[in-house]
Amino acid sequence: MKPITKPEPVLVCRGICKSYGSGDIVERVLKRVDLEFSRGQASVLIGPSGSGKTTLLSILGCLLAPTEGELVIGNGMVDFTNKSSLTEVRRQKLGFIFQHAQLLPFMTIQDNLAIIGRNAGMTAADVDQRLDNLLDRLQLKPMRHKLPSQLSGGQRQRVAILRALLHRPSIVLADEPTAALDWNTGKTVVELLLEQARLEQAVLVVVTHDTRMLPLFDRILSIADGILTEQYQTAALENTFYTHS
Ligand SMILES: Nc1ncnc2c1ncn2[C@@H]1O[C@H](COP(=O)(O)OP(=O)(O)OP(=O)(O)O)[C@@H](O)[C@H]1O
Ligand SMILES: [Mg+2]
Repeated sequence: MKPITKPEPVLVCRGICKSYGSGDIVERVLKRVDLEFSRGQASVLIGPSGSGKTTLLSILGCLLAPTEGELVIGNGMVDFTNKSSLTEVRRQKLGFIFQHAQLLPFMTIQDNLAIIGRNAGMTAADVDQRLDNLLDRLQLKPMRHKLPSQLSGGQRQRVAILRALLHRPSIVLADEPTAALDWNTGKTVVELLLEQARLEQAVLVVVTHDTRMLPLFDRILSIADGILTEQYQTAALENTFYTHS
């Protein structure tokens, strides 16, 4: 029988701390977060308002430098002092989805999407072919030449998913992507995101306040008082808790 091997992590946090402020008024938002993310693994990140979810997601997305600790993406350690290499990592390896789709209002859906592909170094033909395929899969084909203002909120969030996946990133990060949507539309958006990320074997991390979404994910990460707790939801690891302090 083939031995079961643990997949290589694509994203690793080692001893990540983040504090804001200085002197007597230092707020320690993250206190030594150790985490590993493997390809195709979907995690949901929960915690009370102000607990540090966006802070952690911003560090994972190389948008914010940690006060202490290391972030490894693929087989390279992220150098938070090197702006151009950070931009390169973001363009090549990361896909972001925010609470509001943040599409450029004066450009058609196709143009909004094509920029991301070109920035990631894809050829025009590759962008075109991938757009055809993804627009079809996300049922957005009729929207291709429309402006963002001509789409519904749910359609705009589907475009945001497509934009995050277009350049085949190995890591997809979503900060409350369904907060502006009703439950049914939000659930459809998250299911599409999960389906697409699994298909692409990308690491997926989604922040949400909606506990009804939790059963959809492989792993639940909760933050409270700067401490992160993880709970796996796969049958074999059900109810296994790990706490980092
Ligand atoms: N740039 C900043 N300067 C100072 N403090 C900050 C900064 N960004 C965030 N904080 C503080 O860090 C803490 C965590 O903020 P963060 O935005 O990560 O919380 P969150 O869990 O995403 O909350 P929410 O659910 O409301 O979005 C908060 O107390 C916030 O005030
Ligand atoms: Mg937040």
